[in-house]
Amino acid sequence: MDTIFNTALDNVVKMRTSVRTYDRQQLTSAVKDQLTQYMHSLSGPFTPKVTFKLLENDQKHNDGKLGTYGVIKGASAYIGASIQKDEPFALETLGYTFEKLVLYAASLGLGTCWLGGTFKKGAFAEAMGVKEDVLFPIVSPVGYPLAKGHLMGSFIRFAAKSNQRKTWNELFFDGNFSAPLSTAAAGRYAFLLEMVRLAPSASNKQPWRIIKAGNTYHFYELKTPGYSDRLGYDIQKIDMGIALCHFHLAVLEKHLQGEFKHLSPSFSDKPTEAHYIISWESVSE
Ligand SMILES: Cc1cc2nc3c(=O)[nH]c(=O)nc-3n(C[C@H](O)[C@H](O)[C@H](O)COP(=O)(O)O)c2cc1C
Repeated sequence: MDTIFNTALDNVVKMRTSVRTYDRQQLTSAVKDQLTQYMHSLSGPFTPKVTFKLLENDQKHNDGKLGTYGVIKGASAYIGASIQKDEPFALETLGYTFEKLVLYAASLGLGTCWLGGTFKKGAFAEAMGVKEDVLFPIVSPVGYPLAKGHLMGSFIRFAAKSNQRKTWNELFFDGNFSAPLSTAAAGRYAFLLEMVRLAPSASNKQPWRIIKAGNTYHFYELKTPGYSDRLGYDIQKIDMGIALCHFHLAVLEKHLQGEFKHLSPSFSDKPTEAHYIISWESVSE
């Protein structure tokens, strides 16, 4: 089997969990080179540009309290990602490409943890060199996980119910929003959807809803009311990009044919909080 990383996709997806406590040792320069090369060669099916930068931590900024509920210990390096403000599909593209990098890091045995915020000033904004027209919504530590996690990290995992994922019934639908999709009806696409189900998301809210309509899979964002208000951008669009990444990498690994398309599906039972994102049209079945 051809693999995208050095091991099967489902292994990498299952291996990745958010790591909040790190061994203080610096990344070797070989690993830094691998990461930097990978992040600068990242590509995907969407066009908006995402800028990545490896941000080296120093004593002053080490153990800085980042994000909204994150407590990161011991990380010596971070990765920042920024996009052009208000560019259509830029948040989804950031989600897609950053997750590809996160999975690559996991395949190298490195820990990461998505941290969402609005980094406008302070150490990260400075290191990233952000300008006025740029949105800098995500950083992640990258480093060697500390064998025994820190108590606070375990508490955050527990509070966010990080080990739990919604069931198929809640996420995937057949023909409309009321009929759950069975794995049998999903056929070869069951693996792809399972990869989406296991994806990380902000506060583990798993906002992705997917409707199979014939050979087409429509992706919707089930927006959590008020969740993104304080950020000034819709962080759950980043979650949608992460889902698109898991789905698409599984498509590539399984050599399925098809493409992403912006369509205008209409379902009479669509919940008002569900927002259409994109569709995948399969030509292989
Ligand atoms: C867009 C995004 C933003 C996140 N922001 C934070 C954050 O600010 N602080 C934090 O501790 N975890 C954050 N997380 C991590 C999630 O809580 C975590 O992915 C989820 O609970 C699932 O756990 P897992 O990653 O270990 O599978 C974020 C995840 C995503 C995808």
